[in-house]
Amino acid sequence: MASLPEYPIGVFDSGVGGLTVVHALRRQLPRENIYYFGDTARVPYGVKSEETIARFATQIVEFLLEKRVKILIVACNTMAAVASQVIRGLSSVPVLDVIESGARGAALETRSRRVGVIGTLATVASGAYDQAIRRYDASIQIRSRACPLFVPLVEEGWLDHVVTRITAEEYLRPLCREAIDTLVLGCTHYPLLKPLLREVVGADVRLVDSAEAIARQTAELLEAEQLANPQTGVPDYHFFVTDVPQRFQEVGGRFLGRALENVHIVQM
Ligand code: DGL
Repeated sequence: MASLPEYPIGVFDSGVGGLTVVHALRRQLPRENIYYFGDTARVPYGVKSEETIARFATQIVEFLLEKRVKILIVACNTMAAVASQVIRGLSSVPVLDVIESGARGAALETRSRRVGVIGTLATVASGAYDQAIRRYDASIQIRSRACPLFVPLVEEGWLDHVVTRITAEEYLRPLCREAIDTLVLGCTHYPLLKPLLREVVGADVRLVDSAEAIARQTAELLEAEQLANPQTGVPDYHFFVTDVPQRFQEVGGRFLGRALENVHIVQM
């Protein structure tokens, strides 16, 4: 059956990090209903094998399609990097992912055609950003770096902490030496580090936040498919998670920028 404009947008991630995408969607598309799925029992995905990540992604997509979402947004860079084909093969509705959006953003932003990409181990090892950016412009040179310590630092709330700063300097120094003019924040957690990262890389380097980029692309897609929700009431937000860990509300609230309500536990 065809999707209707009032159906929700389905957004999913390995945990709470994808709430940065919900936050950007809420600003860009305040009328849209959103169903979010975060696999909080099995996060992090960034250190797991491709087979496992693809299996988990399949379960999540099947769950959200049963809830009749009108489009799917892969908010997790790691799932987008290694399971994009599996997800698209399963989906009966349009799929957007943060890697496509971030890559497009980088290609538009760079002047020198020297782009840095940071992400989880799985994302960087997959080379997915390199391929996606080169599809826009094959002449762009890309330098990537996995920054696995950023995820736990952000979850800890150390957004402007000396340990995070030293870690960022260590990770980013080699990229800065390559004279990049654009840095893609290729992980759900990194937008929260934007102010600190900006200081570390300097004002001349543009930061591409894939959460903002995908929110813009979602607005374009809904317009093109005539699926934008015309209703003006308070939109419906539901958060489906596989576990409610300690500090979930606090960490989730930090990502979303407001308190989390309508949280449902799902067994998987
Ligand atoms: N959501 C993941 C990503 O964007 C980060 C957390 C994880 O490793 O699962 O890559």
